[in-house]
Amino acid sequence: MSLNLSVIGTGYLGVVHAAAMVQLGHTVVAVDVDEAKITQLSAGKAPIYEPGLPELLAAALATGRLTFTTDYGRAADAHVHFVCVGTPQRPGENAADLRYVDASFEELAKHLHGPTLVVGKSTVPVGTAQRLDEMLRAKAPGGPDVTLAWNPEFLREGFAVKDTLHPDRLVYGVEAGPRGERAKALLDEVYAATIADGTPVVVTDFATAELVKASANAFLATKISFINAMSEVCEAAGADVVSLAEAIGHDDRIGAKFLGAGIGFGGGCLPKDIRAFMARAGELGADQALTFLREVDAINMRRRSRMVDIAREQCDGSFIGKRVAVLGAAFKPDSDDIRDSPALSVAAQVRLQGAHVTVHDPQAMDNARSKWPDLSYADSALEALQGAHVVLHLTEWQEYRELDPKVAAEHVAQRRVVDGRNKLDVARWTAAGWTLRALGRPTALATG
Ligand code: UDX
Repeated sequence: MSLNLSVIGTGYLGVVHAAAMVQLGHTVVAVDVDEAKITQLSAGKAPIYEPGLPELLAAALATGRLTFTTDYGRAADAHVHFVCVGTPQRPGENAADLRYVDASFEELAKHLHGPTLVVGKSTVPVGTAQRLDEMLRAKAPGGPDVTLAWNPEFLREGFAVKDTLHPDRLVYGVEAGPRGERAKALLDEVYAATIADGTPVVVTDFATAELVKASANAFLATKISFINAMSEVCEAAGADVVSLAEAIGHDDRIGAKFLGAGIGFGGGCLPKDIRAFMARAGELGADQALTFLREVDAINMRRRSRMVDIAREQCDGSFIGKRVAVLGAAFKPDSDDIRDSPALSVAAQVRLQGAHVTVHDPQAMDNARSKWPDLSYADSALEALQGAHVVLHLTEWQEYRELDPKVAAEHVAQRRVVDGRNKLDVARWTAAGWTLRALGRPTALATG
C-alpha cells in the first residue's frame, strides 16, 4: 500500500531516505529548515556526492510523489514521519548534541493532530526515545494518538542508496502492547518491498534499538582499531599486517571485512558515535563497560601521528622546505565528506611541521578548501605530485590505485610514496623505481 510519509531533515540520511521511500512506492514530503538546500533539492540537485543519488532523486521527483519544503505544516497529514536530523558531537565534549533532534520533534509535535506514527532514525544516546515519546504525548495536539518508534539507520556513505534500498536488517524499537503492534504493522507497510526481498526485521524496545546502533558502530570502530593495533605490533616486529589480516579474515568467526589497516576511521559517524556512547554509559554508571573504546579512539588517532612520522622520515627527517603531495581529502572514497577526515588531519599536521602541502581529491575539493584554506589544492593528482619530495596516499579512491607509477615518477622531485591505506600495488610502484612505505608493513618488502 502506498503511504504518505514525511522526512524531517535532508542531510545525508534524510535525502537518501526520502528518495528511496518514493522508489518503494510512497509519497514523501521532505522538510528542512535550510531554504537554500530545499531550493537546490527541488531542482533535483543533490547537496552531497553520493553514487546513485542524483539518479534516484531525479527518478523520485519525476514521479511527482516527492516534494521538498521548509514548511512543517505540509508534513502534517503524513501517516508516518521519519526524523532524520543530525546528532553531531557537542563542541569540546564527548556527548552528542541533541539540539537538532529536540528542535525538530518540538516543531513536528505542533502539527500532529490525529493518529500518526513518528519514527526516529537519528543516532541518539540510549534513553532519548523514551523522553521524546513522553514529550510527544504531552505536547502534540493529537496526544495519545501519536505513537513513536525508533528505527536506526545503518547506511554507509558511498553505498547509501544501496544500503537504504537493500539493508542488512531493519530494527524497530517500539513500546509493548497494542500501540507498539500498530507501529510495527505500519513500519512493515512502509518497508513492504524491502521485507519481501528477505530483509530480516528485529522488533525490540526503544532502549535496545538505540543501543543496537551505538553498539554496531562501536564494534566496527573496534575492528578497525584492532587491525591497526596489530599494525603497530607488525611494525615493531617486522611483520606484514596485510598478510596477517588476510590470514585471520579467512576464519568465518572473524571475517575479512573491516580489517583494512591504515590511517584509521573518520567521518561523521564512527568517531563521534563511540565518544557519545562512552559519555552516555558514564551517565548511566556503566562507564567501565566501555573504557576499551577510549583505547579504540586512541589507537585510531595514533595511526595519524604514525603516518606523519613515516612521511617525515621519507623527507629525510624534516618537512622544512619540502613539498608533500596528499592524495585524498574525503574521509573515505566515493564520498565528498571531509568530517573528521584522517587524510586532512594528516595533511594539516604535515603542513604545521613546515612542509608545503598540496592536496587533491576527486570529489571533496570544495569542502576541503572551505574548511582548510591554508592547504594548497591541485586540480589533478598529477598536478599535486609536481615537485613533491614525498607522496602520501591517504584516501583510497580508485583513481589513485590506477595511477601509473611511471607517469607519476615524471612529476615528482623524489620517488617516495607512503601508502596510508595499504591499497597501492607494491610491485608496480617499486618496479617503477619508487620507495614505497606503508603502515604495518616491513620496510624491506615495501622498498622491493
Ligand atoms: C559507518 C557505518 O559503517 C555505518 O553502518 C553507520 O551507519 C555510519 O557509520 P561510514 O562512516 O559511512 O559508515 O563509513 P565506513 O565505511 O564505516 O568507514 C568509516 C571509516 O573507517 C572510514 O574513514 C574508512 O576509511 C575507515 N575504515 C573502514 C578503515 O580504516 N578500515 C576498514 O577496514 C574499513
